[in-house]
Amino acid sequence: MKYNVKIGIIGGSGLDDPDFFKDATEERVKTPYGDPSDSLLSGKLNGINCVLLARHGRKHSISPTNINYRANIWALKHLGCTHIIASTATGSLKEEIKPGDLVILDSFIDLTKKRELTMFDKDDKVIHLPIEPPFCSATRNIIIETAQSLGIPVHKTGTAVVIEGPRFSTKAESNVYRSWNADLVNMTLAPEVVLAKEAGLLYASVAMATDYDCWREATEKVNVANVIRVFQENVKKITTLFIEVLPKIAEKNWDVEIDELNSLIQESVQSK
Ligand code: ADE
Repeated sequence: MKYNVKIGIIGGSGLDDPDFFKDATEERVKTPYGDPSDSLLSGKLNGINCVLLARHGRKHSISPTNINYRANIWALKHLGCTHIIASTATGSLKEEIKPGDLVILDSFIDLTKKRELTMFDKDDKVIHLPIEPPFCSATRNIIIETAQSLGIPVHKTGTAVVIEGPRFSTKAESNVYRSWNADLVNMTLAPEVVLAKEAGLLYASVAMATDYDCWREATEKVNVANVIRVFQENVKKITTLFIEVLPKIAEKNWDVEIDELNSLIQESVQSK
């Protein structure tokens, strides 16, 4: 094995609990893009080397637009991560994806407007990265198999529309996303997933539906209180899944996936 697996976990709320997070060290990483959302916590979870990063900061004080996605990804790469598994709260656009359900995302539609979209804007370089598939299929499959073995129901695929926020959508917007056959709506997946791929990191995301956004007549419209309540009621499923998935990821040889991604990045860069 050429690469030692180290797994970055973004948004894994509760995983920094010293009961399962061992040998923890905390580091403020300086990056060429400024400061990450918070200090990064390195340590062992279920025996596997991991780095934890709170996407909105540990006090949840950074809005989706103001998250320094580039610094976050750069810092995880700098600390030696090979993978990122992320969790994210989302609104459901489909009747069958119920609040509390988990979705292993496989695509996204980026409607964000005010974000830095690439790390390749220095040194006279331009990148045109083929983003499809945006998520690492092998990592996704391990997450799906682990969820099945734990009896945690998951939707095996899902497309998330990423909006700029911080406001939620209008019913007209929500119905447009539904007409596109999108499954979920969210504020933070892009450009995180794109930057991870640019950085050569194998990225997968477990989305939790916390609400039915605002399209469904029979349900209360999305608001912060119901997002937080449903997330907290169901977060144990994500923490259990993440803890169990780590050794499954770590036991595989990832040389082929990482080498292929690095070649793709090299082929996609042009000098100005
Ligand atoms: N995060 C959780 N629920 C959401 C929604 N309905 N829209 C955008 N982001 C969300």
